[in-house]
Amino acid sequence: MKRILKYLWKYKLLYIIPIISMFIAIALDMFNPVIYQKIIDDVIKGGNHGILSKLLLALLGITIGRAVFGYIREFLFDYAGSKVTFDIRNDLFRHIQKLPFNYFDGINTGELMSRTTEDINNIWNAIGFAIMFFIEQILYLIIATTLLLTIDWKLALICLSIMPPMLYLAMKLEKKIGEAYEKLSDQSAVLNTTAQENLAGVRLVKAFGREKYELEKFFKQNQENYELNLNQARIWGKYHPVIEFFSNLVLVVVISVGGIFVVGNQITLGELVKFNGYIMMLIWPLRLMGWLTNIIARCNASAKRIFAIMDIEPEIKNPPNPVFPTKIQGKIVFDNVSFKYKDQYVLKNINLHVEPGSTIAIMGTTGAGKTSMVNLIGRYYDCTEGRVLFDGVDVKSLDLEFLRDNISVVMQDTFLFSDTIEENIKFATGNVRTEEFDKVVVESQVDEFVKEMEEGYQTVIGERGIGLSGGQKQRISIARALLKKAKVLILDDATSALDMETEYQIQKALEKRKDITKIIIAHRISAVKNADEIIVLDKGEIVERGSHKALLMKKGKYYEIYCEQFKDLDISIDGLKEGVI
Ligand code: CTP
Ligand code: MG
Repeated sequence: MKRILKYLWKYKLLYIIPIISMFIAIALDMFNPVIYQKIIDDVIKGGNHGILSKLLLALLGITIGRAVFGYIREFLFDYAGSKVTFDIRNDLFRHIQKLPFNYFDGINTGELMSRTTEDINNIWNAIGFAIMFFIEQILYLIIATTLLLTIDWKLALICLSIMPPMLYLAMKLEKKIGEAYEKLSDQSAVLNTTAQENLAGVRLVKAFGREKYELEKFFKQNQENYELNLNQARIWGKYHPVIEFFSNLVLVVVISVGGIFVVGNQITLGELVKFNGYIMMLIWPLRLMGWLTNIIARCNASAKRIFAIMDIEPEIKNPPNPVFPTKIQGKIVFDNVSFKYKDQYVLKNINLHVEPGSTIAIMGTTGAGKTSMVNLIGRYYDCTEGRVLFDGVDVKSLDLEFLRDNISVVMQDTFLFSDTIEENIKFATGNVRTEEFDKVVVESQVDEFVKEMEEGYQTVIGERGIGLSGGQKQRISIARALLKKAKVLILDDATSALDMETEYQIQKALEKRKDITKIIIAHRISAVKNADEIIVLDKGEIVERGSHKALLMKKGKYYEIYCEQFKDLDISIDGLKEGVI
């Protein structure tokens, strides 16, 4: 809560006017019963008809004033509350953007979505209206009770004695409803995740014929949801009539006991009406108290969850005195690098020199550590031992933004936004379309299929637009990476879905790019054979290295892969010597 108050403090001036308006509106409310009393006692019973018009005018004035100040209060509290939640949501999102890869390894998207939507809404509910209502109801309680005691303390005490059970029941109802709500909210999250996963994976479900199983899973969860909803209704049904009974009982007591007092001339009829007016101002705060404390408690729990994320210090951050090299060449060195995610080493003693402009290829079985290795260059993860150098400087000393600006990656899992093809390619630069754009789309073979499309580069892809093949998505990812114009280009299995011819065309284009250092991860010999050096990783270690020819001559792992991939071709190693391969 303290942290939220800090945010509120920033807008303290914005709160002055609604708070003043709130006071004025309450004060105006307090005059209403007084006027009723005067109309009954002085005008109707006392025959002083002359003041009636003034009283009615005052009543009209109060009603208008109440509406105006009520509106100002409501609007400005909402306005300030929206500003505060806007800030919190932005700060949260900004912080999430700063968190490193390993944070996202351990959390699912659904959970983060809940933080940025449901939890933020809970905070909005509290600061948008619940806190304001809470303060307002407390003021009503204090002022109305004082006024009731001054009208007739005996009648006031009789009525007030019925209030505690009502308050108790109202609080109890809210506690139960609150618990039921928590259960329902957790269950709804599960239901949503199931629905979302099913929809996202609808193709997989259909392909595996698992519709029935998925339906049953969903029905079961929906049934639970239904029962929890019913449970809420049951609680409501149990407590609400009793609370209603007590509220009415108070009014019955006011009329009957008050009536006796009027008959006995202890109070006037007008005073009884006034009394009744103030009693009404007591009943609502008591009934609302439980609901409001619930919202505030929920806000508190949500704030804790949100600030727990905000308190996570990103493990990978900019060094205190970052180095900015003036001349960028794109040389990468792995100096005895070892790396582990948690306890298990996935890379051991890696030594590698990649000269500016050269091409290095990394091969190896799945899980060998290829992706992990390239992830260390842009500091998506930090190596556990050894150093990774960029142009001779330890990447941990370089300015993080500078480092990442100079590295372009085509990730293993292609991700494209639901936007136009052009916007997806321009993702890194965000600029207008340039000549460079036209060049990279040819190099990455994107142009070849986009020119066939009716809307060309303005075609919207993804969920809202047309579907693309795996290879087309990869080509767009390559174009996106090339357009970034970074000195180092990393292709992580980026041509795996392409046919040989397209892959060859892209390779040829990349070979011409003498100005950038290329690191290519691939499983196919065809994708790596022209590299200056090929390294073969196995269980996190470099087991072989050299050029295509040298590795074939060695007849080691690389040769095995080669034979596996070309087993149908009748070319032997002798052919290599004769220059056939
Ligand atoms: N790993 C992990 N946590 C991650 C990513 C990977 O523990 N966030 C582990 C994997 O289980 C694997 C090892 O690290 O045993 C190496 O993973 P990776 O570098 O991704 O392997 P690749 O060689 O890239 O495998 P692939 O060809 O399948 O992409
Ligand atoms: Mg990989």
